[in-house]
Amino acid sequence: MLTLAGVLESEDLTRIREALAEAPWLDGRRTAGPAARKVKANTQADTDNPKIAALGRFVREALERSEVFAAYARPARWSTLMFNRYGPGETYGTHMDDALMGPDGGKLRTDLSFTLFLSEPEAYEGGELVVEGLEGERAVKLAAGSLVVYSTGALHRVEPVTSGERLACVGWIQSFIRRADEREVLFDLARVRAALPEGEARLLLDKASGNLLRLWGEP
Ligand code: NI
Repeated sequence: MLTLAGVLESEDLTRIREALAEAPWLDGRRTAGPAARKVKANTQADTDNPKIAALGRFVREALERSEVFAAYARPARWSTLMFNRYGPGETYGTHMDDALMGPDGGKLRTDLSFTLFLSEPEAYEGGELVVEGLEGERAVKLAAGSLVVYSTGALHRVEPVTSGERLACVGWIQSFIRRADEREVLFDLARVRAALPEGEARLLLDKASGNLLRLWGEP
């Protein structure tokens, strides 16, 4: 799991929240699989709406500018980004996301999920994203404009919102590097590289990282 602060600036957040206030909102169960549908109670902005689709592209471009995100996720393919909203009493109970997403003939394998928080944490009570792992549960509630990315294979939930409104943007990534352990090695090497001055050591590290990408990467 990785958290990234300041993916969006406050003026972008204001613009997105204003656009979402006028968006057509649909029942979130429309995009959930049969099991998830039973525990999902939220609304989602209509991604067929051109303004909402443009907002999704804007968020994706912001993420693509993040070198840390690129080094951690190694994105090969992206799902459509979705905007969801939880009001009082709304929640998304424990579930797992679909392994394959998208239209027939254009499906992606979901390796990583991300949630970009669009509401300030003070604007709502509850609404933590809780991710279950072998080492226990992690509850995540970040500042507006901050993002968490985690393995899609994990069970997770959104705790009930008891007051206020929780807006977020969510999406999924198929990574060039399928295995999480291999992705971790490459991420560590990228962090070491960032600390090295230009020179022979960095060149050798680039060679090793590039050759690992060749070993592990799949287009
Ligand atoms: Ni989910």
